[in-house]
Amino acid sequence: MESPVPEILYERAEHAARFIRSRVGEDVRHALVLGSGLGAFADELEDPLAIPYEEIPGFARSTVEGHAGRLVIGKVAGVTVAAMQGRFHYYEGYTLDEVTFPVRTLGLLGVRSLVLTNAAGGLNNTFTQGSLIVISDHLNLMGASPLRGANDPRFGPRFPDMTAVYDHDYQETAINEAHEMGLELRRGIYAALAGPNYETPAEIRMLRLLGADAVGMSTVPEALAARHMGVKVLGLSCITNMAAGVEDRLIDHAEVIETGERVRETFAELLRRVIPKLQ
Ligand code: HPA
Repeated sequence: MESPVPEILYERAEHAARFIRSRVGEDVRHALVLGSGLGAFADELEDPLAIPYEEIPGFARSTVEGHAGRLVIGKVAGVTVAAMQGRFHYYEGYTLDEVTFPVRTLGLLGVRSLVLTNAAGGLNNTFTQGSLIVISDHLNLMGASPLRGANDPRFGPRFPDMTAVYDHDYQETAINEAHEMGLELRRGIYAALAGPNYETPAEIRMLRLLGADAVGMSTVPEALAARHMGVKVLGLSCITNMAAGVEDRLIDHAEVIETGERVRETFAELLRRVIPKLQ
């Protein structure tokens, strides 16, 4: 008989990690969260083992169409990675505990490096639709932190430092590998809003004043939970559209997904090069 899912978050995440470990025969040190339109990378892993989220005890149910909602464990350039094909977003109504539960689980599974990817709107005028960006820092404008509430010191400290959420060496690695590909990967500050609506032009002007280069509705809760646990983070954004009011046109979700799919091969190549270099 299956054992019941424990109540305490840490134990729930341990339970989920044990379940994954029982399916995977080897250590997993690298994980990846694939954002909107970017999920195809998981289909390229060698010797893949795919576990639908609904089979993993404690995981929430995926609701967004276009998101497969599964964890794919396989190899890229000889390195085993756990790739989340689809994530849980705050705007879907999940709590931030639910949003970050997979990251908690991956951390307890033994993952030491986490690549967070997303689709984002571009504010910085040097970005264009289809640009890939390495996140250098973030603005958490979601109005909440996944670390709010009783702290479990088994995960990490009550007041974790966030001076370097996005690992500097990882940023360098990503920029250098992109350079080798003949691609200019620029750094940018990612502002996370709760969504689900896209921003107004006035909000985008506000975000620009705050120093944001890109805007989206994910990534930051996962980055905070990962850093709480001492997991190193690389953040990559695909600029799927220029943010509201930057150009004289509307934003459409279908276009966001299409742009992700258009950069699919470049994005996959960058990941194939970067992942084996993440220490
Ligand atoms: N705003 C917020 N989130 C997004 C955008 C945007 O313009 N594009 C893709 N995700």
